[in-house]
Amino acid sequence: MAMKNQKERYGTFIHSNEDLNVGIDLKIDESRPLVIAHPAAGNHYHASMSFVQEFDHPFIHLVIDLHPYFPDTWPGMVSTTGNFMKYQRINDTIDGHPVFRICDSKQPHWQVQVTADAEEYLNSIPLVDILYLDWIDWINIGDDIRKKQVKSLLDYVSKFVRKDGLIILDHKHDLKRILSFKETEDKLLDFYQSLSSHISYSGELEWLGENSASDLTAYSASMYIVGDNGESKEVNVADFQKWMRGLVPEFAQTKQQIDSAIESGRNQFEHVDAYTWDIWNCNYIQKLTDDITHVNLSNLVPAMKTWDLEYYQKFLGWLKINDHLLTKPQNIRSYVKTNQPHIVNIIHGDLIELSPLLFKENNFIAVRKSLAKKVLNRCPWWVDNMVKLQASSPWMESPIPNLVWSGEDVTTKLVEDIMDLSYSKFIEKFDDLDNIPDSLEVITVANGNGELKELLQSFEKFLNKSKFPDEIKLSLTVVHLDDFDYEDNNLPDNWVRS
Ligand SMILES: C[S@@+](CC[C@H](N)C(=O)[O-])C[C@H]1O[C@@H](n2cnc3c(N)ncnc32)[C@H](O)[C@@H]1O
Repeated sequence: MAMKNQKERYGTFIHSNEDLNVGIDLKIDESRPLVIAHPAAGNHYHASMSFVQEFDHPFIHLVIDLHPYFPDTWPGMVSTTGNFMKYQRINDTIDGHPVFRICDSKQPHWQVQVTADAEEYLNSIPLVDILYLDWIDWINIGDDIRKKQVKSLLDYVSKFVRKDGLIILDHKHDLKRILSFKETEDKLLDFYQSLSSHISYSGELEWLGENSASDLTAYSASMYIVGDNGESKEVNVADFQKWMRGLVPEFAQTKQQIDSAIESGRNQFEHVDAYTWDIWNCNYIQKLTDDITHVNLSNLVPAMKTWDLEYYQKFLGWLKINDHLLTKPQNIRSYVKTNQPHIVNIIHGDLIELSPLLFKENNFIAVRKSLAKKVLNRCPWWVDNMVKLQASSPWMESPIPNLVWSGEDVTTKLVEDIMDLSYSKFIEKFDDLDNIPDSLEVITVANGNGELKELLQSFEKFLNKSKFPDEIKLSLTVVHLDDFDYEDNNLPDNWVRS
């Protein structure tokens, strides 16, 4: 980071205004990730990515387009840097948008690829720090935005940017010309100076970054700073935390969970559908054994590591220090049977949303196939802890035949079946009975008629014939969305709220 006039300047940008500087001056909130949004980016998100990479700070790179141009839809091309996949898919957001990262980058960052109308999405999230403009059709300012002046355009989009944040107008499509500048350079300066009172022109920028073919490219843009327009332009911390925890599972965990992730040396997981180096390597070995005379490499090679362990752990350390970004433990209602250690928990909420918060090394999730996949997409840590209730293909025999989850035709003994299959999973996972955990939690969602009495009675029936070793304390946790389910009344005999 360069310094000038006692001001911190970020990056290696060449910044020219009345004078020439290296780096740019931006007020960054050090206690949270920086957010840059690139609306209607298409396949050209590399420009904004290279821009924000210049800030040595964790960041969210929001790419918002009506159509998917994900790094693994158009995974790259053979370039001077070879045929390596630069990005890896790491998880989905709770809304199902895929999240990627550049594997050889040490910086904590998440590229969130949102397939949506840009304006609608920007209106639904907290104010961003940087808005990157290289295409303007998405801006609903009027019928023919090309006739509009840059002045009203910037004024309009500044509503998405927090106070002291930036609007970067990329020069790629000669936007200055499109936005009907006919002035000479001198007049241009007058024009910039006559911008709305809450937007100020800060100069011209140039920087080097990679393009879509991973070749080094010179980018250039004009930079504007958003000021105060009388409305509240600060980022609301609570809204920001809520939004972040829906994007990245680590932010949906508690401080205690982050502590144990640090202790156990946890690394970044890839998305369950990611094309990983292990898969590539397996295919390559297969080719070697099948066809020793002519081995051709598959075109794209994923990175061996999605995030270097040392730097992932550093990120966890940063998160721990900034624990206002983390999530508070969930409210839980618990019920026990007298003289029994086992427990039934009731949690109000959405399992997909809560899946990072409920994650513990030894917890299992037992839900229908489609929900299990959504949980895994959002939070891949669960991959080895899913209890299979349905066959993966329709022609295969299902662990619970003709599974009906709720309603009049609900599968009889559903809770017992869930617990029996959890036992099978337990045996598979802990084959050394001398080395088993002292507790095990099975998490599922509302089922049957949604009544507490039915649930506790079913669990009790299971306990009466449970094959789990006696020393294991079992918990059955049911997550429910509807307020009226599992109301705290009508308990069966010998069950109490703990
Ligand atoms: C020609 S591409 C421009 C790509 C890149 N930004 C550039 O400047 O080269 C236009 C992109 O705008 C996207 N687009 C158009 N209207 C949009 C909207 N309302 N919200 C999000 N994306 C939109 C299209 O899907 C398309 O990918």
